[in-house]
Amino acid sequence: MELILQDDCIVVSAPAKLNLFLEVTGCRDDGYHDLDTVMQAIDLRDTLTLQPGDRLELVSPQTPDVPQEQNLVMRAARGLQQAMGVNRGARIHLEKRIPSGAGLGGGSSDAASALVGLARLWSIDVPDEVMHRIAAGLGSDVPFFLHGGIARCKGRGEKIFPVSTPVRWYYLLVVPPTPNRTAEIYKALDGVGTYQPKTADDVCRALETGSFALLRNSLFNRLEDPGRACNKQVDHCLAVLADRVGCMTGSGSTCFVPCSSDSEAKNSLRRLRALLPDCTVLAVSDVP
Ligand code: C5P
Repeated sequence: MELILQDDCIVVSAPAKLNLFLEVTGCRDDGYHDLDTVMQAIDLRDTLTLQPGDRLELVSPQTPDVPQEQNLVMRAARGLQQAMGVNRGARIHLEKRIPSGAGLGGGSSDAASALVGLARLWSIDVPDEVMHRIAAGLGSDVPFFLHGGIARCKGRGEKIFPVSTPVRWYYLLVVPPTPNRTAEIYKALDGVGTYQPKTADDVCRALETGSFALLRNSLFNRLEDPGRACNKQVDHCLAVLADRVGCMTGSGSTCFVPCSSDSEAKNSLRRLRALLPDCTVLAVSDVP
């Protein structure tokens, strides 16, 4: 995430993520699943603008249906207030560009940005472990966004192992019109504990060595089958993307293909938009 300090406000840009690899390694007692996943931040971003205020207030023009107190940004703000014993407020404006229910982590990234931005606005020094604990309590992907870049994530997603890369990465995203519901996709996943879990080692090696060919060949998402079964648009997208080696991100519904360069991604945009006219097709790069 990026923080810009202005005279009367703080502007935080909250990136989306792709899951380049996602294996479900087991069921947990708390109702969640254990994961082995590799996430990469990408340059599709929401923007939070934070100003001092007497009370907490959120304006989110693109999500008028989400009650203010249920928005992860407000929950992050309240979590920070409570953990640090702060009773200061803020006016938060959230400009959404990351589609919701798309497996791109928009809500989680907004929450992580709110935590970091508000700590700055309120001039409080929050220990890393406190920040991480609040983040993990808000959602499985939120700790990743505190870190950003690329990371292999385990547990519910909250155990972060940074991965570095010597090159830039480019992708085409295909966002179907109908979102997926994360809980429903996990519920529809069959056979956890009966299959031999795949390993993220190849994806990590591809990123660390900058091997595009290896990355293309090692993309994987265990949630893809339930994602396809629950949303026929995902199934259609992946069928259209088959010859380009498409993959679903998170619990969907967005599908993506890696591209060898920025120009390859941009040159393919028009063709893909013609093939999938109901979907939003975007060319993105990683956020180093
Ligand atoms: O943590 P988050 O709120 O993003 O999770 C949404 C839902 O996704 C959970 O309620 C759970 O059903 C499912 N989930 C899971 N295992 C994970 C992450 C999410 O079962 N590691």
